[in-house]
Amino acid sequence: MKKIIAITKGDGIGKEVIPEGIKILKIIENYSEFEFELKEAPAGGEVWKQTGTNMPEKSWKIIKDSDALLFGAIGIPGLPQGVAESAIFKIRQELDLYVNLRPIKLYDALRDRCPLKDEYIGEGISITFVRENTEGLYRKIGELNDDEAHNIMKYTRKGCERIIKYAFDYAKKNGHKKVTSVDKANLLYPSQLWRKIFHEIASDYPDQKTEDIYIDAFCQWLIRAPSSFQTVVTGNMFGDIISDEGAFLIGSMGMASSGNIHPGKISMYEPIHGSAPDIAGKNIANPIGTILSVKLMMQESFNQPKMGNEIEIAVKEALNEGRTVDIKNPNLKTLSTKELGDLIASKLKNRLKK
Ligand code: NAI
Ligand code: MG
Repeated sequence: MKKIIAITKGDGIGKEVIPEGIKILKIIENYSEFEFELKEAPAGGEVWKQTGTNMPEKSWKIIKDSDALLFGAIGIPGLPQGVAESAIFKIRQELDLYVNLRPIKLYDALRDRCPLKDEYIGEGISITFVRENTEGLYRKIGELNDDEAHNIMKYTRKGCERIIKYAFDYAKKNGHKKVTSVDKANLLYPSQLWRKIFHEIASDYPDQKTEDIYIDAFCQWLIRAPSSFQTVVTGNMFGDIISDEGAFLIGSMGMASSGNIHPGKISMYEPIHGSAPDIAGKNIANPIGTILSVKLMMQESFNQPKMGNEIEIAVKEALNEGRTVDIKNPNLKTLSTKELGDLIASKLKNRLKK
């Protein structure tokens, strides 16, 4: 099975973590029917400095002609706001990637790195955030001048329906029993429309329990009782914020993966972290968020949940032997980005060889 994968390393640690994701793709290629053609599609801040655009036409064509995109992170200090980052916005909007899938799972090996006390961790943390990715405040409808600025939070029925339906289908497919909707319906009109549609769609899924929580209260419940959540569906800005909060609960920003998805079409997979200029160039960044993004790609774009599972098991096995410095444990080896990538790749290879 041949697949074309566009590769955007981007800036900062994006350049360091993506090669570790590629190692995983190579192992999959060697031990399965897949054949991957990897095509570099440079984008971001450094490219902007060289060419005056953060997404050269050539890169954009490669992305549009691919089956999926593996993306690092973009942004470099000193550039005007958004000059590099707007490339992500372009990809999400123009490919209509309306689902931002952000699973967080606290592995047993990393319980010591979770900032919560044991009594709050409870039965463990495994939550999938399903964030609307194309509407709301981030759509950039608004105006900025020296005296006034506004953005408009606009949601449409179509936009709400498709993301909420995706969340229920995801919950069903993954054995989740409850879908939580997060909004601010006590104040915001778009949230009132969202909530109404959430319950209309919920009636088609009688086996799923449902609940509504206001965003402010949710931030508190997420650290107070994280084990009570399974699938959480929410709008663009709320989802951006709570999924970062969630990411730190599993040990490090470097652990969390994401998919920007349009089911059945080109989708983009990326670790949720940014270009981390504070640690860039040191070969210490955690590559697991990227490697788990490859897992999501296998699962969501290429319909290979079993392969996704194998990648996740390889990650768990490696965590018992060595870690990057952000999740270090005094009893285990501290590894560089490359060394942890190699370790996970060798674990995966051993599993697939069997
Ligand atoms: P960041 O995610 O780059 O870094 C936040 C903190 O987490 C830093 O202390 C960093 O060292 C740490 N961290 C992040 N990833 C890590 C990893 N893999 N291993 C170990 N530690 C890790 O967020 P920040 O500093 O707010 O943004 C830096 C730049 O990245 C900005 O230009 C921002 O706009 C951009 N950005 C780009 C994103 C993207 O490309 N999708 C997403 C978020 C931010
Ligand atoms: Mg964010």
